[in-house]
Amino acid sequence: MKKLFLGLSAILINYFVVAQTAVNIIPQPNEMVINKGNFIFSSCTRLQFDVSLKDAVEPLITKLSNAAGIDLLSKSNCTKKTLIAIAIDKTILNDEGYQLNIIANEISLKAKTAAGIFYGVQTILQLLPAAIESDSLQKNMQWSVPCVAIKDQPRFGYRGIMLDVARNYMPLEFIKKLVDLLSMQKMNRLHLHLTDGQGWRFESKKYPELNKIGSYRKGTSLNTTYDYNSRPADTLNGGYYTQEQLKELVKYASSKFITIIPEIEMPAHSEAALASYPQLACLDSNGNAFPYPQKIQNEYCTKDETFKFLEDILEEVMDVFPSKYIHIAGDEASKENWKKCKYDQQRMKEEGLKNVDELQSYFIKRIEKFVNNKGRFIIGWDEILQGGLAPNATVMSWTGIDGGIKAAQQHHNVIMTPEAYCYFDRYQSDAPGEQVAFCCMVTLPKVYSYDPVPAELKDDEKKYIQGAQGNLWTEYIPVPSKAEYMIFPRAVALAEVDWTETSNKNYEAFTERLIHYLQRLNYYHVNYSRHLFDIKLSTSLINKKVVVVLGGVPKNHIIHYTLDGSTPTEQSPVYTKPISINESATIIAAVLQNGTVLDQLKKSFNLHKAVGMPVTLQAAPDKDYNKGGNSAWVNGCLGNDEQFSDDEWLGWEGKPFDGTIDFGTATTTDSLQTRFFQKANSWVWVAKKVTVQTSDDGKIFKTIAEKNVPIPSHDNAAPFSISWPKNTSRYLRVIAEPLGKIPAGNTGAGDEAWLFVDEVSVY
Ligand code: ACM
Repeated sequence: MKKLFLGLSAILINYFVVAQTAVNIIPQPNEMVINKGNFIFSSCTRLQFDVSLKDAVEPLITKLSNAAGIDLLSKSNCTKKTLIAIAIDKTILNDEGYQLNIIANEISLKAKTAAGIFYGVQTILQLLPAAIESDSLQKNMQWSVPCVAIKDQPRFGYRGIMLDVARNYMPLEFIKKLVDLLSMQKMNRLHLHLTDGQGWRFESKKYPELNKIGSYRKGTSLNTTYDYNSRPADTLNGGYYTQEQLKELVKYASSKFITIIPEIEMPAHSEAALASYPQLACLDSNGNAFPYPQKIQNEYCTKDETFKFLEDILEEVMDVFPSKYIHIAGDEASKENWKKCKYDQQRMKEEGLKNVDELQSYFIKRIEKFVNNKGRFIIGWDEILQGGLAPNATVMSWTGIDGGIKAAQQHHNVIMTPEAYCYFDRYQSDAPGEQVAFCCMVTLPKVYSYDPVPAELKDDEKKYIQGAQGNLWTEYIPVPSKAEYMIFPRAVALAEVDWTETSNKNYEAFTERLIHYLQRLNYYHVNYSRHLFDIKLSTSLINKKVVVVLGGVPKNHIIHYTLDGSTPTEQSPVYTKPISINESATIIAAVLQNGTVLDQLKKSFNLHKAVGMPVTLQAAPDKDYNKGGNSAWVNGCLGNDEQFSDDEWLGWEGKPFDGTIDFGTATTTDSLQTRFFQKANSWVWVAKKVTVQTSDDGKIFKTIAEKNVPIPSHDNAAPFSISWPKNTSRYLRVIAEPLGKIPAGNTGAGDEAWLFVDEVSVY
């Protein structure tokens, strides 16, 4: 019996994740055995380590001192000491791997490098209670860790996050906080997008106008303006980091085993630089300078002066950032100006380049040669494949995975960052109230499901995949708290994608571990998103009543809900069966843990006269914006306030909404309310005019009301109402004309505006 028990106590992790809630490590270690017993930290615990490992062990010393009041370096005498022995072991194969053995009176941590020791230390910290992250003394705690035997190493060597500090300047303190947080989850690269059209954030001593002009644009933080002219001081937005500050940041990150990779945009996204040094811009077809702001994604002219400028800048950059890799972008160049500018045309002739793609390739190769000559290597976005890849370049595959596949097939290193999985500027939930994001949906489970190695690659090509990176572009992110909301917890999921072997991943187990991990983030006041479970709410109409079904959370969690729009508490009703909505209501469904909302969803219902009536539409909605079906406009459910891609909004490109309701019998009405969507940047505009008609036979209609729709001053759902003298008819027809051509000065000017229509509530 005893033997059997001991055998069972050493079962591999997958069995124990569920049973032993005390072990909640993220990213999930690749080999772990949980044994019986604990190691208890006390004032008699001593730490042995070589001084060369000072940075690696520092978090253990500091956190135990701050939160537990335990001085691991104490020289005082103890009769019964316990020991933490930390040492380099060159026999361990992986550079970042570690071996951790915890028994009742000793912790042994070994690794080949200091980085491996650092990751082992992070594991020890995650075995301790979450309160170890507190910066103040926590009383009445038992500081113990379970006995485990762990052999762990990352799946990938590149485990990164990109922060765009160009679109919106982010304070250095925030970047350091991000470094701390990423290091806790064993990530090792922070890619800083330092320059873009909307701002230049790197101090240049050789080109000071970059910082005087290019670092400050006119405008508010939410827009993406490129206006560097006519700038009263009080409207300026921006800032830059001095070289000294950046050197200090590099040093700080390095102490957390994070390499900062700087990115300097070229040849496009260069408006900030071109506003500062207009002589580097292309000329128009008449040989004149382009006016600024011109249009997004403007390129540098390919004359020698530009290369001198960029090489000087890169020299300054390489002086500040010791990273082996320097990101030189290469993305989204329209190359239109190159087709017109005499200097670029001359360059193409001289170099025998057939088209502007080859000119781009010439540009990147020339820069690569300069960078290689300094002993460094370039990374570029996947567009650098166009016209031929530079010989030693690493490709960051963002537009999808094809760029990564092509580059790996050409035996180039690749970092996978496809937008469908790794773009954290996208929405993570379609719940109402989300902060404005950049279209589309990249949910937590979607991030977690990502496998960076494309199935298309042959076995000998797979080794070129270095890892995955999450990208936060900040056009819509003016402040750190919003950046945190977009990064966390998606970056936590990505950490596991990058570290943990696919066979050891399990989303349900991850969410359970994540709930514990969030307690750690609470100590850092991280404004993480609370869409952990992706609660699902579906509706159906039964006898003209809305029936709501909730789901999407793991079996061991319950959903509380309210119907009056208030936030649920643990006293609110628990969802057990479909809810019948008999009158207009707002449901809020939430998963709670110790009073904290882990996930929440809200939806409103309007039970008006037309709910569930047969309807016809003259033109069907666009197939991509018809998720709720052709009768979603009378299903009693209101659409999202901030997004038009849910089940309730219906969308048409350049066509009117023209819908007729058949009440079955003569019915008296006097008004309707609906909502149109306004999001000019996405080509979406409210209707121009609404006409209401009635009919007794469904053939001959007469107009009973007409009203123009004002263009709202804010984006998102725009309410509209119209009334008429009481009218009794069987048919009611509602026609909403689209705006027509998008007005000049707006995104998509001259093209047809999209029209989006929500529930049409008839009274
Ligand atoms: C990118 O998103 N333009 C790399």
